[in-house]
Amino acid sequence: MCGITARVGRGDAVEELVSGLRNLEYRGYDSAGIATANADGLDVVKREGEIDALCDAVETASIHGTIGIGHTRWSTHGPPTDANAHPHTDCRNQVAVVHNGIIDNYAELKSELSTHEFTSETDTEVVPHLIEEFLSAGYSPEQAFRRTIDRISGSYAIAAVFEGSDTVFGTRSGSPLVLGRSADSYYLASDVPAFLEYTDEVVYVQDGDVVAIRPDGYTITDSDEETVDRPVETVEWDPTDAGKGGYDHYMLKEIYEQPTALRQTIRGRSNQLDNRAELEALPRGVFSDVESVHLVAMGTSYHAAMYARTLLADRGIPAQAFLSGEYGSNPPPTGDRTLVIAVSQSGETADTLSAIRSVQGTGAQTLAVTNVVGSTLTRECEDTVYIRAGPEIGVAATKSFSAQVATLVLLSERMSQDIQGGTPRATSDLLDSIAVLPDDVQRILDESTAESVAKAYHDSDSYFFIGRGIGHPVALEGALKFKEITYDHAEGFSAAELKHGPLALVTERTPVFAIFTGRNDTKTLHNVKEVRARDAPVVAVAADGFGEIDEYADHVLRIPDTHNDVAGVLANVQLQLVSYLAADELSRPIDKPRNLAKSVTVE
Ligand code: F6R
Repeated sequence: MCGITARVGRGDAVEELVSGLRNLEYRGYDSAGIATANADGLDVVKREGEIDALCDAVETASIHGTIGIGHTRWSTHGPPTDANAHPHTDCRNQVAVVHNGIIDNYAELKSELSTHEFTSETDTEVVPHLIEEFLSAGYSPEQAFRRTIDRISGSYAIAAVFEGSDTVFGTRSGSPLVLGRSADSYYLASDVPAFLEYTDEVVYVQDGDVVAIRPDGYTITDSDEETVDRPVETVEWDPTDAGKGGYDHYMLKEIYEQPTALRQTIRGRSNQLDNRAELEALPRGVFSDVESVHLVAMGTSYHAAMYARTLLADRGIPAQAFLSGEYGSNPPPTGDRTLVIAVSQSGETADTLSAIRSVQGTGAQTLAVTNVVGSTLTRECEDTVYIRAGPEIGVAATKSFSAQVATLVLLSERMSQDIQGGTPRATSDLLDSIAVLPDDVQRILDESTAESVAKAYHDSDSYFFIGRGIGHPVALEGALKFKEITYDHAEGFSAAELKHGPLALVTERTPVFAIFTGRNDTKTLHNVKEVRARDAPVVAVAADGFGEIDEYADHVLRIPDTHNDVAGVLANVQLQLVSYLAADELSRPIDKPRNLAKSVTVE
């Protein structure tokens, strides 16, 4: 949801700014721009469309400088046009600004700045004009920047570059901003992949911090201008993790990375010697007093949360999954025996942050389950468990779902051990299945026949996905992925719901994907017979051992026999492949589905 970059250092900044934007393109891709400061003043180039359009414009422009800022946009205020693209400047071209987020009081500020000529429809443009006011009043660039920040409200990460200055200033409030430090350059960005090819040393900027990066170093100060000490951390991601690595799309690369991601997720956490799940960040007994669990999340992460709800309920722990966008506005009662688990790949989803904020002060315990180290969610929750999936760039979430579910299976085991004492349910079967999960996923990737399904059905009217228990969130996830990247209508249901309405939509032109995970399969088989009786093609996703399905399905996508708790991860991998291959048949822009962005940082 918009990506910002900034760079100060040795040599020309343009190439690094553009490569940073390319690595952030998953955050928005409807327009992009850069600005540099040089001896002649400020140069700005910006274009509607993807980064390639910006690159073409940069080649013919004379933009240069060792200091600069960049932006890739996902429109909120104003359509994607050259004029609305960032950076935005003041009337005198003294300052250029990039912004991720929303400025809530922009209308009020804009009317206050009525003598200024605005050239865009964005909320962001008030920032350079306000800065201009303070510069005209005699303030230094830093003071003008600070005073402007004091006047704006909303969620933002902002970077600004000034004419005649060797410093880029940045700040954040509710939107991510991270600083990178290499031997000869300093960077600011919405996310680490922007500068990962240049440095793995990062500082997570916090809300209210004002950062100044200069050729010879950086400073971070608070709103009182006192220096604050933020630790320098080394990110473990490899630069090649953030590239396409020879695959046509990030999504395909990330689907194929799942065995590796899952190995990272479970490493050191599945103790088969004494049948225990270990989660290093959580001391034993941390959940002893929990009486009920609320899981809050959006999109794919919500499906992982629904999956976990079933796992917890199976272990006798009352749990509910909520869309965080609803939870934040209408929070149900919580108390000091409620655990609220926020599940989020990015750790920056505004709805999920607002859900967590809504329970602060109620005594509820909060836990983040996320992929991104240092993300806002990790700072707002008391505890964090990382899913360790590695960077996920494809807008359609894939490996993060598998890693979330594997983490939540282990977490459910840990909670059950804490709450019920001892090892009441940890079965060696489950831990054995977790240990071989990466190999089982690899087998699916090597042997899947998803391509023939994608080829056979990619021009159908509509697609339905059904499953029970953990198969239900997998059905929802299968449908979400399918619609996101093929643009075809797809819906997921509980198989139990089918006869209560959705069956009316089933025809010979609506393939039904039926997910069998080893529990209540007989009931789901009845549903398959019902849709077949209406001539719908049936694609079953079922374990090797479920031979009976062959008679009733047009196509069976096989998964290795495994424990029911993890069978959903395997079934989902088959569905990811079907969606990807169907979207590819339709020549869709798989990594950049229309209207979407990876990290939804506005509510
Ligand atoms: C779907 C997808 C989105 C995200 C959702 C939550 O493929 O990627 O639905 O799952 O926006 O994002 P996170 O997990 O970052 O909170």
